[in-house]
Amino acid sequence: MNNYPEKIYLNGEIVAHADAKISVFDRGFIFGDGIYEVMVQLGGRFFYEEAHLNRLQDGLQKINIDYNVGEIRPAIEQLLSAVELTSKDCLLYIQITRGVAPRQHSFPKDIKPTVMMYAVPKILPDINTIHAGVISREDFRWSRCDIKMTSLLGNVMLNEEAMQNNCFETILYRNGVVTEASHCNVFFVKNDVVVTHPANEFILDGITRQVVLELCKNLNIKVEQNPVTAIRIPQMDEAFLTGTSTQIASIQKIDDYEFYSGNHVGPVTRRLQEAFLKLKNYTVV
Ligand code: PDD
Repeated sequence: MNNYPEKIYLNGEIVAHADAKISVFDRGFIFGDGIYEVMVQLGGRFFYEEAHLNRLQDGLQKINIDYNVGEIRPAIEQLLSAVELTSKDCLLYIQITRGVAPRQHSFPKDIKPTVMMYAVPKILPDINTIHAGVISREDFRWSRCDIKMTSLLGNVMLNEEAMQNNCFETILYRNGVVTEASHCNVFFVKNDVVVTHPANEFILDGITRQVVLELCKNLNIKVEQNPVTAIRIPQMDEAFLTGTSTQIASIQKIDDYEFYSGNHVGPVTRRLQEAFLKLKNYTVV
């Protein structure tokens, strides 16, 4: 039980994790009917907190869960203080499900959402020095990947395949086009131009993705938000992954195609990693 956070925030209360109980009729449990968010506190503030909370509110609106994310700020403080993580580097997980109701696909209108949060200490490296090996697979998930929903079976199955292959991630392609990865966004670099899938229904518009696009602008790196076909991967110069705890991770190889041998990181990836570090340290890029 040691790997669980000791205390959980559940519906307004802080409880020991063993006492944090929800109904088996919670629609999060029955249908995976809920939205989640993950953010990290770095140097005393949540990194892009507003963007994360706005995405949470958007997700709730997209699936018609009536909850005002404004209510969560004091609850976050309450939780952090209870687990002695106020101002400390940590990871916060927030999950809001539609709530409890007799099992039926359509949902009652007066249902009260279940709000659960936990925080655990998390020290991220300055720069993610992983040289990620990744595999590629068909993106068989649904076509509303813009919704950060708790039903993650597709992502779980696809990520598990990466683990079975001793890889860090599985990058996904739909109709021959690279979309994203099981828990990260995917970027390529070709002739010093950064290329990534446009933010539409086939990807989650990652907050780190948005930060990287902003960094490219500040660094005068050209960006194309265009799909890359999987067969063009060997023509790319660099590839990297982004995500809240992954930050910016260089991809060393995709399936059998190696971008680099050894511990090399492409120049554009490296520049972005360094700029990202400055941003975390509040230095203007
Ligand atoms: N994963 N794409 C998918 C499918 C994701 O699940 C995530 C995040 C991202 C990157 O988003 P962001 O930069 O906002 O973290 C892209 C989270 C962290 C998770 O499921 O744990």
